[in-house]
Amino acid sequence: MTPITTSFFTQLRDLVFKRSGIVLTSEQEYLVEARLGGMARELGFTTGDGLIRHAIESGDDGLQVKIVEAMATGETSWYRDIHPFDLLKDLMLPELISRKADQQSLSVWSAASSTGQELYSVAMMLDYFFPETNEWDVRLLGTDLCESAISRAKLGIFSTLEMNRGLPAMMLAQYFTRREASFQISEEIRKRTRFQTLNLVHDWLPPSKFDIILLRNVLIYFDTPTKRQVLEAIWSKLNDGGYLLLGSTETTIGIADHIVPVQSSGATYYQKRGN
Ligand SMILES: C[S@@+](CC[C@H](N)C(=O)[O-])C[C@H]1O[C@@H](n2cnc3c(N)ncnc32)[C@H](O)[C@@H]1O
Repeated sequence: MTPITTSFFTQLRDLVFKRSGIVLTSEQEYLVEARLGGMARELGFTTGDGLIRHAIESGDDGLQVKIVEAMATGETSWYRDIHPFDLLKDLMLPELISRKADQQSLSVWSAASSTGQELYSVAMMLDYFFPETNEWDVRLLGTDLCESAISRAKLGIFSTLEMNRGLPAMMLAQYFTRREASFQISEEIRKRTRFQTLNLVHDWLPPSKFDIILLRNVLIYFDTPTKRQVLEAIWSKLNDGGYLLLGSTETTIGIADHIVPVQSSGATYYQKRGN
């Protein structure tokens, strides 16, 4: 595909920003060929410009969605960055489980779940280390902008390459079945989760509140006003005493200073204190 021209890159950038809040920088022009080349060729366009022009002029909603999804980075892994998951295991889950022992309910939302590894990491952790919660009312929700990522998360089938990214051997042995070149997560774990598409910038957030929200490695793609908007909206969806985890390079500082970071064991978390 002929490289995209600067004027069409600007149009692509505006489209992606308008629909997702994701800010593409000019250094990311190089991503266009890798991410849109296949789609352009499939639709008979020899240039990226042709694809973008057609998507914008035709107003084809489905095509615009596909382009935005292709430009979103879905990079993820099991127990990503490990320290926040250690905090979950050693601090947040024990505290919540003891505090909510009477209610016997627990809710976790992976708010930019990509293909599901983040939410499944929590689901396996609960089953493995806190089997008492199997009798509880546990709500595990994964949402993402990207429909193809959500479809994959729902299936719970992962390639060998994906399996090799951070999954402890004991979890592999206990929770996965080999399917030719792929691995499928156990039905037991899969059926405890729910995945659905949700755009954090434009959609209504789930009506109920959560005990733990993982909003990890998505704010980095937004500008400051969008980060603030999403953080405030997410914070309003935390129960009093609930916990928020961001990605290791993300922060509330200078964006939503009332959401105060707490450092512990090499990771940062945010806890909503009741009034
Ligand atoms: C880098 S992945 C992070 C996945 C996972 N949270 C992790 O940390 O491994 C970023 C995800 O954010 C999603 N995303 C980007 N903009 C979004 C938006 N406006 N609403 C919901 N999800 C969005 C992308 O589709 C992508 O799957």
